[in-house]
Amino acid sequence: MPEMHAAARSFCTGRAYRALAGRWMLPWALQGLDPGDHVLEIGAGSGAMAAQLLRAHPRLRVAVTDYDPGMVATAARSVAGFGDRASVQEADAGALPFADGSFDLVLSCAMLHHVLHWENALGEAARVLRPGGYLAGYDVLDSPPMRLLHLAEGGQVRMMRAGQLDVELRRLQLTEIRVRRSAAGLVARFSARKHPGACHG
Ligand SMILES: C[S@@+](CC[C@H](N)C(=O)[O-])C[C@H]1O[C@@H](n2cnc3c(N)ncnc32)[C@H](O)[C@@H]1O
Repeated sequence: MPEMHAAARSFCTGRAYRALAGRWMLPWALQGLDPGDHVLEIGAGSGAMAAQLLRAHPRLRVAVTDYDPGMVATAARSVAGFGDRASVQEADAGALPFADGSFDLVLSCAMLHHVLHWENALGEAARVLRPGGYLAGYDVLDSPPMRLLHLAEGGQVRMMRAGQLDVELRRLQLTEIRVRRSAAGLVARFSARKHPGACHG
């Protein structure tokens, strides 16, 4: 599994990035969607977005996950003040340890480009959503500058193109699919809904 470079890791856990992630990038990634009662964040990094969600929605419960134990420890500190409304655990987005239909919203921000088989992570997100629940987030797209950046970091990369993301969300039989390119086409924001009539499994 590709590892995050130490410089990228320290950037993602730094004070400035965390403030930006919680206050600005979270609402941008949520695209006005109601998080419901129970949210899963995959690849949650520092936990800045989860902490902001918990602050903004006093009855919300959030399951915060990341596959990197160091990030899990940082995220645990970020949400420590929210008691049993937050749970934090180590989990690979490609093999989530949750039952089908567990969450109202799955949030994935800047994580899929770290996952070689990002299709598996999307499949798992769709599986753990309840019928009618939403997947939302954003990620960087395959492009020469992004490939160069991540190769320079020493990571193995297999980034998605916007069209591939759209195709994969359709293949998963999600509805209300939106893939919107931003930042001169380097990034895509996405949202999709699990069909309200979908069966679990
Ligand atoms: C660029 S950081 C983004 C963190 C956070 N989502 C944010 O926007 O602030 C990417 C995160 O994805 C995590 N990650 C990478 N591959 C993963 C995988 N297969 N499963 C779960 N998390 C993963 C990394 O450990 C890292 O914390």
